[in-house]
Amino acid sequence: MKIDNDCLLRALLRQPVVRTPVWLMRQAGRYLPEYRATRARAGDFLTLCKTPELACEVTLQPLARFPLDAAILFSDILTIPDAMGLGLSIDEGIGPRLARPIVAPGDVDRLGVPDPEGELRYVMDAVRAIRSALGTRLPLIGFAGSPWTLACYMLEGGGSREFHRAKRFVYDEPRAAHRLLEVLARAVGVYLRAQIAAGVDAVMVFDTWGGALSARAYREFSLAYMERIIATLPRERDGRRIPSIVFTKGGGPWLEAIASIGCDAVGIDWTQAIDDARRRVGSRVALQGNLDPAVLLAAPARIETEVAAILADFGHGDGHVFNLGHGITPQVDPSHAGAMIEAVHRLSPAYHRSH
Ligand code: CP3
Repeated sequence: MKIDNDCLLRALLRQPVVRTPVWLMRQAGRYLPEYRATRARAGDFLTLCKTPELACEVTLQPLARFPLDAAILFSDILTIPDAMGLGLSIDEGIGPRLARPIVAPGDVDRLGVPDPEGELRYVMDAVRAIRSALGTRLPLIGFAGSPWTLACYMLEGGGSREFHRAKRFVYDEPRAAHRLLEVLARAVGVYLRAQIAAGVDAVMVFDTWGGALSARAYREFSLAYMERIIATLPRERDGRRIPSIVFTKGGGPWLEAIASIGCDAVGIDWTQAIDDARRRVGSRVALQGNLDPAVLLAAPARIETEVAAILADFGHGDGHVFNLGHGITPQVDPSHAGAMIEAVHRLSPAYHRSH
């Protein structure tokens, strides 16, 4: 199946495009009043994720407002720990909670790899519903959390600022930590392959908490497992390449290492200069990013200036996907997101070959 607008897929594979593709992390979310209305109808966020028709509806909402170059599956990275039996709840203002966290090495032995067409069937049904609603219009991005980021939530029982429980576990119980990361890597691999079979056109691994680790621990406990996952993904489906994106928030110091694990693209947060990042990864991977999400709180004229600066810093040539450096925040006025997207459309063609 050929995708009509394949700008994103081409840019991820560093092929020529006429303009820089753009999408937003968390593009379906609380900053949109129509999202809040659908969530209210569902009752809560998790029910929204677990009801394929509603997950499909909110996935399409930002596409009805803005000329985005991709849809991203509406779901959450914590579907895997939930399916492993840890008991997920996500409450407004409190954030994610796991009722039965991993506290002792023995707890790891009870974890199995969830069946994507069993416990996680609702995710695959959402992918199929979105694929059929989108038709061939736009690519659909699937995703999962990195093993390390999932382990953080499973060991902390929720979000954390310092990750002391998770870090103590990897240092005090390295063998159990490796067993945990191993079962998570298998679960994520099976899950992403099932998403690809169900119809996603690209996949992204969110390593939100990789940047909390030391350089050495990052390689051992996060990067090594993402490398294993990437190695198990099919390169193609129906003769078309399925690009992969790896995003480690705070991973700037390790860009070269991330670019060498076999992924097609690397996401960068706003703390990196994109010109410097491009020099460092060379022609190995495409780059995705990296506007500071807080810029969207500023006036549209200022947003345009910041978009222009990132496009100029990346410079001429292909291999850039415009995005935020992390998810869009609930406080953003939707018209400001629109101003960002419009600026990318208007200013980016000058940097591509046809000009
Ligand atoms: O990008 C998209 O539009 C796809 C949807 C998506 C969500 N979560 C929806 C969501 C994606 C890709 C995620 C990934 C995710 N979930 C990550 C990695 C990316 C990142 O942001 O770092 C992480 C760490 C999580 C775990 C999680 N889920 C957190 C920290 C929260 C926020 C809690 C809070 O109240 O601020 C969630 C909930 C969540 N996931 C929401 C959405 C739209 C908000 C929940 C709501 O509507 O009440």
